Amino acid sequence: MLVLYKIVFLVFALFQNSIYGYFILIKTEKPQKRSSIHKDVSFFILEMNYLTHQLLNAEEINLIKKEVEEATQDWEDGKKTAGSHASMVKNNLQLNRNSEVSKKNSQLIHKKILSNQLIKSFSLPKIIHGIMFTKSSKNMNYGRHIDNPYMSSGRSDLSFTLSLTNKDLYGGGELIIETMNSEERFKLNAGEIIIYPSSYLHSVSKVINGERLVCVGWIESYVKSPVEREYLFDLDAGARGVLAKYGMSDEVDLIFKSYSNLLRILGN
Ligand SMILES: [Fe+2]
Repeated sequence: MLVLYKIVFLVFALFQNSIYGYFILIKTEKPQKRSSIHKDVSFFILEMNYLTHQLLNAEEINLIKKEVEEATQDWEDGKKTAGSHASMVKNNLQLNRNSEVSKKNSQLIHKKILSNQLIKSFSLPKIIHGIMFTKSSKNMNYGRHIDNPYMSSGRSDLSFTLSLTNKDLYGGGELIIETMNSEERFKLNAGEIIIYPSSYLHSVSKVINGERLVCVGWIESYVKSPVEREYLFDLDAGARGVLAKYGMSDEVDLIFKSYSNLLRILGN
């Protein structure tokens, strides 16, 4: 870890004003708290690190939404897939994961996540699993719970929610993630995904009106530790920023070499 710290700090000391390449980041919704160097990239390990990102375009959203909504016979009680703790507070509907429409659209989302460079760098996905579509209409909610650490399909290092509904089309229905000292509330636009560590208590507040349609799932990462993932992410983002701004160089080669070798050491 000491080597990793040193490299990360060296990179940012060298390129303090030059890290804003095409890759730089949508990592926080609170940039006003940041210095210029930390405006988009966070070092603060006590903060929850999450990523929000527009994953689907309008055409993809409409296609998935239409098929999923039309499969009326395949929607069932959400308690079916919840763990023993979560099932006591889960009050929503989910699309049967064995249905053809669920399988087809889950695959599409799986592919979209795996082909997204920013998400790959942030989450270092080994397995993307448990993808399902859930729907909450008026008075439905999902109380505070923690996701199962292990599922038959893999370990949950990161959880994600991909919205298929614009946030102004329903009232309530916020995703609330609790950190040690605070809570963060999220409402996403259609096609936007949030990826956050599975280690936090979280809930979905009651839907007051309209309908909240989302796709949720989990990621088993090559790097289990959120802190190590964060430093690797920063290093990758910094190197890509330098590359975008100045082009290829011996220095960029060395940074990417260090990144790859650190990933080899830290990954499992
Ligand atoms: Fe959950």
